Amino acid sequence: MPALLRNILLLAMCLTTLSILPLPTLPLRAEDMISVSDPHVQARVEGMRDASKALNRLNQMIAGRHRFDPRSARQDRKILIAAMGNIPRRFQRYKYDTATRAKPRIWSNWNDFRARARAARASARSLNANSLNRLRQTAPAVVRTCLDCHQRYRRPP
Ligand code: HEC
Repeated sequence: MPALLRNILLLAMCLTTLSILPLPTLPLRAEDMISVSDPHVQARVEGMRDASKALNRLNQMIAGRHRFDPRSARQDRKILIAAMGNIPRRFQRYKYDTATRAKPRIWSNWNDFRARARAARASARSLNANSLNRLRQTAPAVVRTCLDCHQRYRRPP
């Protein structure tokens, strides 16, 4: 497949997945906000929201709604790497909260869950924020790793 066509397809895929993903824009959409009381659960949910906001900002640039700004894109890349890197620590302890959407199978499949967190961190590291074109090419992989874990370990609303 010619490279240009492949890029267009990838971008289209990225944009459709992004709109399927419950990615809250700023402010977060009401249906994406869970109201958590346990502080551990709160911390892991906050981490996810940070990741989501960063990905959202990148998506605004990819979609041409915001001007591409390499400094802000690099900052969002760092936020994503940190948020994905924090997953194992933030989910390590089994914590139940009535509002949580984390499936209990996380803790009976801990190694698999951790591997998915590692894959997400790796895809965030591979984000290339140096040019809009590179960003477009590397963002879909990040979205895939988010979805990949959610499909298995996060209950739908
Ligand atoms: C290794 C698994 C895993 C990965 C990778 C992952 N998530 Fe999550 N995410 C979860 C789980 C589990 C929950 C549910 C947490 C809860 O409700 O306690 C969640 C919840 C969320 C929420 C909902 C927060 C809220 O307010 O309820 C958002 C938004 C989110 N993730 C975004 C992302 C984005 C964006 C990425 C990728 C950059 C990502 N996640 C990667 C497992 C993951």
